[in-house]
Amino acid sequence: MNNLKVLILDDEIQFTEELAEFFQNTGFKTFIANTSAEGYAVLKKEAIDLLVLDVRLPGINGLDILKEVKKLYPGIEVIIVSAHGDMDTVIRAMRLGALDYLRKPFRTMDIQIAIERTEKFLILQQRIKQMEEKNSLISKNLEEKIDRHLIGVSPQILHVLDLAMKAAKFPDINVLITGESGTGKENIARIIHFSSTRKDYLLYTVNSSSITDSLLESEFFGHKKGSFTGAIADKKGFFEVCDHGTLFLDEIADMPLNLQSKVLRAIEEKKIARVGDTHQISTDFRIISATNHELDKLVEEKKFRLDLLHRLNTLHIHIPPLRERPEDIEPLLLYFNEDFSKKINKPTNPIEKDVIRMLQNYEFPGNVRELKNMTERAVILSQGQSLSIHDFTLKIKGKHFRSNESVRSTLSENEIEMIRNALHNCEFNQNAAAGLLGISRDSLIRKMKKYHIQITRNENPT
Ligand SMILES: Nc1ncnc2c1ncn2[C@@H]1O[C@H](COP(=O)(O)OP(=O)(O)OP(=O)(O)O)[C@@H](O)[C@H]1O
Ligand SMILES: [Mg+2]
Repeated sequence: MNNLKVLILDDEIQFTEELAEFFQNTGFKTFIANTSAEGYAVLKKEAIDLLVLDVRLPGINGLDILKEVKKLYPGIEVIIVSAHGDMDTVIRAMRLGALDYLRKPFRTMDIQIAIERTEKFLILQQRIKQMEEKNSLISKNLEEKIDRHLIGVSPQILHVLDLAMKAAKFPDINVLITGESGTGKENIARIIHFSSTRKDYLLYTVNSSSITDSLLESEFFGHKKGSFTGAIADKKGFFEVCDHGTLFLDEIADMPLNLQSKVLRAIEEKKIARVGDTHQISTDFRIISATNHELDKLVEEKKFRLDLLHRLNTLHIHIPPLRERPEDIEPLLLYFNEDFSKKINKPTNPIEKDVIRMLQNYEFPGNVRELKNMTERAVILSQGQSLSIHDFTLKIKGKHFRSNESVRSTLSENEIEMIRNALHNCEFNQNAAAGLLGISRDSLIRKMKKYHIQITRNENPT
């Protein structure tokens, strides 16, 4: 007995029984449920370690169950069971935190391997948990610092790193980071913050395009209780919570003009007053801002204040697109392959040379994020002993985005089609579509606005 408890949730009774037998033989204490209600009842009563979940239960979306379970019971690991050919669901499930997947119909071998992998993983997890409970070494704070590796060997990326280290050394200068979507701007902001003397204070990320205009001022400056309807208590704004820390203004180009002048004043004076209050509060923050727009042009068009730009770009770091530094592709690929394989508890398979050649000729409109997502997908889906070019096709309905695709009509036409296809394929779920395209959700929304792409079904955008 390994002391681990597994729940199998699937509507096919015979299948659940067969699977239960396998798990029992491996030493798991096994529970069965054939409906989601039965499943939740077991989860409530038993401290389940592993859930084997069919994502195609009648009348309910298995991915919703996965999300809910991960929320209610974050300690439970989930293996999903999917139908052959339903790979988009598998990818989405893995992104939602599923540990592994089994395809129906499957071979005995597949189940045995999955169980073995899972068992090792769960026992390891239990050990880590026990260690953490004894001596809480891995703090949340430390975890936050983990995703800040800068991989690359090109002279361009080494120059970026050099500038980032300079920025870290001078914790009071403001830094502007520019570069296309997915080039790693946020990554650099983290590296600067966590390598500077401000590292023990907050790094706070604000994306002005995602805050309602009417709330922007109070979000940045805070407010006094009663200063407007809804201001039920005093509240600190971003400038105040970032005292001694770093305020990361992401997509700075989207900041409305009236806010720009207020922000400029706050930066110059290092003092702010909360909305509805006259009392001046001193605060010591550093601003790192990022954009994928050309701010100079926006200044010319009078959409961005020149004086604010001068304040923000004391140090300017530009990250070139990935296609201009193809020598970074291989080290990034190796890094993501290893990192992701570890995360899903799979051995790291070698990458065939063809893959590297192919990717070095690919344009990477989504830059490093796209490469990362592609690798993630390849690691999840590959069946062989190595990753081959077949694992790396970015498939969007009716089109294969391969390096050797020589005909590219116009870039924007292609982009529009890709966006439409991705949205369609993901049932208009914007998060999923952005993931498929290898861009952030914010970028997707910006592009949808730019090309006037509307959600044509009645779903609420998610
Ligand atoms: N040189 C790098 N080494 C390792 N990981 C990287 C590198 N560059 C980018 N990444 C990873 O790629 C992903 C995208 O990077 P990031 O979010 O920083 O991009 P961004 O420029 O802020 O994009 P956007 O403009 O869409 O917000 C992240 O997961 C990041 O960790
Ligand atoms: Mg970003």
